[in-house]
Amino acid sequence: MDDTIIEQIAAPFSKSPSPIVETVALSLKFGRQVVLKDISIQIPKGQTVAIIGESGCGKTMFLKTIVGLVTPSAGKVIFDGQDIHTLNDREMTGLRKRFGFVFQNAALFDSMTINENVGFPLRQHGVPRGRKAESMILDGLAEVGLPSDVALKKPSQLSGGMRKRVGLARALILQPDLLLYDEPTTGLDPIMSDVINELMLRTRKRYPVTSMIVTHDMHSARRVADRIIMLYPYSRLKPGESQILFDGPPDLLDTTQDRRVKQFVQGEAGERLMEMLTSRGHGDLETTNLHDSIAKKVTLEE
Ligand SMILES: Nc1ncnc2c1ncn2[C@@H]1O[C@H](COP(=O)(O)OP(=O)(O)OP(=O)(O)O)[C@@H](O)[C@H]1O
Ligand SMILES: [Mg+2]
Repeated sequence: MDDTIIEQIAAPFSKSPSPIVETVALSLKFGRQVVLKDISIQIPKGQTVAIIGESGCGKTMFLKTIVGLVTPSAGKVIFDGQDIHTLNDREMTGLRKRFGFVFQNAALFDSMTINENVGFPLRQHGVPRGRKAESMILDGLAEVGLPSDVALKKPSQLSGGMRKRVGLARALILQPDLLLYDEPTTGLDPIMSDVINELMLRTRKRYPVTSMIVTHDMHSARRVADRIIMLYPYSRLKPGESQILFDGPPDLLDTTQDRRVKQFVQGEAGERLMEMLTSRGHGDLETTNLHDSIAKKVTLEE
């Protein structure tokens, strides 16, 4: 499929008359490291967008910049018509009520019980303690498949997957307009991953939430997303290339001609393995064993 056809099919995803989220030439740097460069997207209300891309390409930073947890080096984030990085603290607090964030590592308060963690947004936004709040918390826990007896436990007493679901219950409790999930199914068993996928779909049926889901789980992305955006590490782009390698409906992933997108979607290392080995000290992998494995592979292929 040529680029013109892809652009035509993807057009409704990138241009919307009234997007709820818009980034305009958004850039983020840490010192001399460019993490995000000139990212411009528009997300219509009610859309579910999966953000994919390899580790370190900037997915988490992208989400955090969108909700004002990280300040961009350049560009704008417009949420429901407001440039969020120009708001004062009071205005920002008001806006936060409309965002739900499921953090990559759950990010629960260790000293609080599960009850208090899930109810934290309620207290922050003025819902008084009491029966109503209690029942909202228990409903929230039930919704993510957690029994009520976890309510009085501390996060350290739960498994990683359970903590993840507590983070999800906390993000959902105020029925926010924009839900951001950072790897909601990573570390969960296949059944629990599917429970989370179902929950994301169910939330969306219940009210017109807009969602951005960072995920490495292509099964989950295809199942829940209307649109997939693939980011690529800025440092490895060719001159003048966009950091967004793919932006379109999940079906189009299978017809994309971009080798890097294909490799990611099909889960192949391709020449990335060699690149990581040659840039010593930049990979996460244990290089000695990896060199052995590659040597074996090369020998076998010969
Ligand atoms: N506080 C920070 N200071 C300096 N660099 C940072 C900071 N936070 C993130 N980075 C860098 O920004 C880049 C993007 O990080 P980010 O967490 O967004 O990656 P990611 O795509 O979410 O990766 P993963 O899939 O592993 O979670 C990384 O190179 C990371 O080292
Ligand atoms: Mg991340």
